Amino acid sequence: MAEFAELKVNGKEYKLPIIEGTEQEKGFDISKLRAESGMITLDTGFKNTGSTQSSVTFLDGEKGILRYRGYPIEQLAEKSTFLEVAYLLIYGELPTGQELFDFKSDIKKHQLVHEDMKKILQGFPSTAHPMGVLSSLATSLTAFFPESLDPNRSAEKINLTILRLLAKIPTLVSWSFTNARGIKANYPDNNLDYVGNFMKMMFNLPTEEYEIDPIVADAMEKIFILHADHEQNCSTSTVRIVGSSHANLYASVAAGINALWGPLHGGANQKVIEMLKNIIDNGGDAKKFLDKAKDPNDPFRLMGFGHRVYKNFDPRAQILKKQADKILERLGVDEPEFEIAKHLEEAALKDEYFIERKLYPNVDFYSGIIMKAIGIPIEMFPVMFSIGRLPGWIAQWKEMRAHNEPIGRPRQIYVGATERPYVEVSDRS
Ligand code: CMC
Repeated sequence: MAEFAELKVNGKEYKLPIIEGTEQEKGFDISKLRAESGMITLDTGFKNTGSTQSSVTFLDGEKGILRYRGYPIEQLAEKSTFLEVAYLLIYGELPTGQELFDFKSDIKKHQLVHEDMKKILQGFPSTAHPMGVLSSLATSLTAFFPESLDPNRSAEKINLTILRLLAKIPTLVSWSFTNARGIKANYPDNNLDYVGNFMKMMFNLPTEEYEIDPIVADAMEKIFILHADHEQNCSTSTVRIVGSSHANLYASVAAGINALWGPLHGGANQKVIEMLKNIIDNGGDAKKFLDKAKDPNDPFRLMGFGHRVYKNFDPRAQILKKQADKILERLGVDEPEFEIAKHLEEAALKDEYFIERKLYPNVDFYSGIIMKAIGIPIEMFPVMFSIGRLPGWIAQWKEMRAHNEPIGRPRQIYVGATERPYVEVSDRS
């Protein structure tokens, strides 16, 4: 029997249908509320607003559960490869052996990018942040594949765009990296797997062949898997809302990259290491920074701590913490940032302010530490997050279009000036 919630306003009752998901999550459907009552709901930052019904990723922030298409993140991180996870997210099921083989071959076919992309890249000064470069290059792909602008393309053609994105983004990331360093671009090597090929394109030098370290490749594979989707976060909601205007997939993903760039979202991994350096440069007193983070009059926040949804622990962070310990030990890296990170983590976990607000280290805290340890340049950290999140953005965009979702267009409560007559410039004080 259909369940309803009842809302009573000024004596008048409104029935709001209750929608229940497969994990028994419940929500009131308010989509007809404005038409019936003239009122909207207000929820700045969408802290308690569902924007869609999705079957891609399940997340329970209280219990620390994260599952892609039903599969626990812990099992995927342990047993799967990034491309298997990408396939799972995008097509809904883990691939059979043959499907995986075909998927990998299809991606290899598209890894090369047009040489003219280099002209675009050369236009950027060396000071350009790689996230800005990447979003520009993602948008530029529309120029090379103009048919992607047609919002009513066949599923087969959309799939081609999906394969191109997955194949070309790592190449473009590596080219933007080598370009910024003034080094000759590397080309994809179809004999290597996805992650190995990417690492080689990034770090191979004309003077020195890059050797793929399995520890490093495994760490990157896990980072990519753990970042692959996270339901309706800021960048994914951006991708869905941009795509809801029937903007093409390249443009929607480019918007996602820009949303991810912010330090409160995917830019946090870069900020974690910058914060640790800052602590060292200021005498190494982690407590001073902890106090700053607690001061309501100081905008400083402990980067890599806290999460909108996880209120007990971030399951991705738990996996990466173990991985970080393993990597620091196996690679024998010992840098002052790691020591400070340990102090900060211990101190914050014991601190009443952080306990009360349920602020724990998040995925970016440990991914930042791992990427620093394996030699990824700091400004490239959010770019690594983008490569990881790409399958999630694609899967969510595809779902939004398959459901034929209407254009995303929130309402507002206007609190500005009421109607007033125009004032001539000569009369303005
Ligand atoms: N350091 C100090 N105080 C914090 C922090 C922090 N990192 N995060 C939240 N708080 C405080 C905040 O000041 C507020 O205190 P009060 O109740 O006294 O006003 C309370 O905790 C609740 O914070 P909020 O801003 O209402 O929480 P939110 O859900 O809007 O923000 C967040 C979530 C992730 C943006 C925030 O915790 C933050 O800014 N963290 C640092 C940036 C970061 O690490 N981001 C990566 C998130 S994980 C990767 C991803 O999925 O993007």
